[in-house]
Amino acid sequence: MSRHLTIALFAVAILAGCAPEERRTPTSIPPASTTTTTERTQPDPARAEELVREFVPQARYACATCHRIDSTQALLGPGLLGIGAGVSPCDPQQGLEDYLRESLLEPDACLTPGFSAGLMPAVYTEVWNERDIDDLVAWMLTLRPVNGVGQ
Ligand code: HEC
Repeated sequence: MSRHLTIALFAVAILAGCAPEERRTPTSIPPASTTTTTERTQPDPARAEELVREFVPQARYACATCHRIDSTQALLGPGLLGIGAGVSPCDPQQGLEDYLRESLLEPDACLTPGFSAGLMPAVYTEVWNERDIDDLVAWMLTLRPVNGVGQ
């Protein structure tokens, strides 16, 4: 390798290392399981927004691969926009938070009309810890209708 090329590559490596963008690359987001040491107070919906985009090996998909979160249109599963103002299709008396938690942990307990059982992986009790689940439920509650879509 020519000396110039070596120097050029070295300079590129240094520049890349110093670039402010570095910190925002997805690979630098710590995995959920390593951030559980602090005592928790309030659920953090913003954190869950990262979780739903994470590939989950046990499920073979990310949540967001099956669910649009900015639309009511279905992919493999129903679009989730508006779910934060919704109601259980099985039991209107069930609290929404409770229903969303159940949808996540026991997907076949109450099926969304038009979708079959067994499609949403029933693996999340093994995948997420309590904090993750609280954050995910809190995040789903933020998915309220936008401009009348999702009502
Ligand atoms: C392999 C595709 C798939 C993955 C991955 C998946 N889901 Fe689902 N989900 C479905 C399907 C299909 C349904 C509808 C059938 C049912 O109710 O189980 C559903 C239903 C739901 C519902 C109920 C929606 C309603 O309108 O009542 C919620 C909430 C939900 N999923 C959230 C999630 C979250 C959060 C994740 C990630 C932790 C996730 N899902 C991962 C396919 C998936």
